[in-house]
Amino acid sequence: MEFLLKPGGCVTGTLRVPGDKSISHRSIMLGAIADGVTDISGFLEGEDALSTINAFRAMGVAIEGPEQGRVRVHGVGLHGLRAPQGPLDMGNSGTSMRLLAGLLAGQRFSATLIGDVSLSKRPMERVAKPLRLMGASVDTQEGGRPPMTINGQGRLRGIHYDLPMASAQVKSCLLLAGLYAEGETSVTEPAPTRDHTERMLSGFGYAVEQRGPATVALRGGGRLNATAIDVPADISSATFFMVAAAIAPGSDVTLTHVGLNPTRIGVINILRLMGADLTIANERVVGGEPVGDIRVRFAQLKGIDIPEDQVPLAIDEFPALFIAAACAEGVTVLRGAEELRVKESDRIQVMADGLATLGIRAEPTPDGIVIEGGRLGSGTVHSHHDHRIAMSFSVAALRAGGPIHIENCDNVATSFPNFVELAQRAGMRIEVKG
Ligand code: S3P
Repeated sequence: MEFLLKPGGCVTGTLRVPGDKSISHRSIMLGAIADGVTDISGFLEGEDALSTINAFRAMGVAIEGPEQGRVRVHGVGLHGLRAPQGPLDMGNSGTSMRLLAGLLAGQRFSATLIGDVSLSKRPMERVAKPLRLMGASVDTQEGGRPPMTINGQGRLRGIHYDLPMASAQVKSCLLLAGLYAEGETSVTEPAPTRDHTERMLSGFGYAVEQRGPATVALRGGGRLNATAIDVPADISSATFFMVAAAIAPGSDVTLTHVGLNPTRIGVINILRLMGADLTIANERVVGGEPVGDIRVRFAQLKGIDIPEDQVPLAIDEFPALFIAAACAEGVTVLRGAEELRVKESDRIQVMADGLATLGIRAEPTPDGIVIEGGRLGSGTVHSHHDHRIAMSFSVAALRAGGPIHIENCDNVATSFPNFVELAQRAGMRIEVKG
């Protein structure tokens, strides 16, 4: 699938983007191992979240839906999962693979996790290594890549682990393994990362202890009680429209019911530092997660040095923020973001290449990028099977001098299945080919 974008236009109106991907994954995982029935609303019906549903169905969990964002999970309890018949296909989803590895380490059966061409290139030793320290048997392929086989023996011991990188996936993997471990499992992170696992475990009645700002701990052997989960709209998906409105003169867009967890709002903080006209209304807490409505109107942006403490809080939003930087006056510098090189694509290189194609000076560095604001031209860019790259360059067309053609856009369906429809409704001149 390819996207064809005509240049110009602006975005207006009120939109609700699909459910949060991170929270959707976790709602299935925790619902599956809880006692009782968990009802989920606002669930992301994207391919990544469906991969998680399919994996749990393959392990004997009855799951109804999704239908219009509603899912019902019949929990089997902490020890009720059954051995799958074949490999579990995680598609494009790193979150499914890494979090599931932790859960599988606690089972009494073996399972193999496989993924698509992009996921098959991503590092898995970051979870395999600490799981082995807990006593699990985990095999990865050359270079620590998938497929990953977890030979569950039902014997894990709690450990303390200092995360070498700021990763919510690794933290969550270890907390899920910790549910099955003897004694306490604790994780210290080098910088705050999304805490949806911790919040949702508490929502399922499982005791999670936050020790200071950086350490989280739990004890194995408890139980989770089924609950109801209302998934907020994904701030990572809302980002494309926030940036679209920020860069396109005449824009005025409101994104409703967006998750505003403090560990996810780096994009708001960074856009505001760049001079964006962004306001938040109707702030409230839904199911343990803060939500609100975000309104963005066009305002000329300026280049900034992005504060490094914002990097983990905006980690998935950088491809879109690079488009904002390309439209800003002056230079934007990002440092301390080497993790971007191991996402669904090498997001530093792929964005630098695409921006260069469109005539923007973008200099990749080992851990970031330097972008000079300028005039976006036209051309063909490659998304490298990365949903967020495809959507970011779609937004760029609002300020481009000519058409933009984006290749390999199928994976937009992993996180934002109705992106094209919402983009058209908001005013973007996007068409799908193939
Ligand atoms: C996620 C954590 C982040 C993020 C990913 C989703 C999660 O990954 O990039 O899209 O749901 O825990 P890392 O843990 O690799 O930073």
